[in-house]
Amino acid sequence: MTARIIDGKGIAAEIRKELAQKVADLTVQGKLPGLDVVLVGDNPASAVYVRNKEKACREIGINSTIHRLSEATTREELLGLIDRLNRDTTVHGILVQLPLPSHLDEDEVINAIDPEKDVDGFHPINAGKLQVGDADGFVPCTPAGVLELVKRQGAAIQGQQVVVVGRSNIVGKPAALLFLRENATVTICHSRTKDVAAECRRADILIAAVGRPQLIKKDWVKPGAVVIDVGINRVDGKLVGDVDYEEVRQVAGAITPVPGGVGPMTIAMLLKATVEAAARE
Ligand code: GUN
Repeated sequence: MTARIIDGKGIAAEIRKELAQKVADLTVQGKLPGLDVVLVGDNPASAVYVRNKEKACREIGINSTIHRLSEATTREELLGLIDRLNRDTTVHGILVQLPLPSHLDEDEVINAIDPEKDVDGFHPINAGKLQVGDADGFVPCTPAGVLELVKRQGAAIQGQQVVVVGRSNIVGKPAALLFLRENATVTICHSRTKDVAAECRRADILIAAVGRPQLIKKDWVKPGAVVIDVGINRVDGKLVGDVDYEEVRQVAGAITPVPGGVGPMTIAMLLKATVEAAARE
């Protein structure tokens, strides 16, 4: 069996098209959605991500401003900017690109963002809403994109075994909570899990989000499973996921490629959250 390839790029394009119409409707109502992105320092990967976000906003008519701050930005300067954006009624979404330079406290910065504008879903209020099942909060964009991809596959989720490899606050933990909310039976694996391969083999839906290139092998995957690869690792100048794609596609039922799988969905979900924030106004 060869797995069906899940076309994240194509699905994200469809979502962006739907959103473009909503942005047009909101703009007519005088609610032009606005997303402000804050980038501190010179991390090259972050610079690429931010450029992609800006381009995606522009393409669907969202008003996007990028605040590029130097590596030497002080805590006070950054918190001052966030305070100003919190008060600015033309700004519906605020995203501070992570990681921040080491002299800045990421938790303090995230906590300073108005939860109503926290389109990244990283603020503890939004993390808490996800945890208690309050659908009003913002959800981190990557796991939201993972869920959307699985749903659009038509794959059943309720009662299925979902195994998430990785327990980060940005992907693993919120992904587990999102699938729990869909009534899946969820297992989270991490670096101290006794036998990760055995846990993975039980998965109907396997989500890899550990940042270890090609960790997940063919014999870790149940035949027919849906495999979602969140990893983006650069190996010898080439992007590879956390899943050994060539091997695993021989046994999986469906699989996301890297690139072109989850990545484009993350941005689509960010745009969706921004549009929702503007619509709520
Ligand atoms: N750095 C890597 N992924 C993300 C993300 O989804 N949001 C933010 N703010 N920073 C990131």
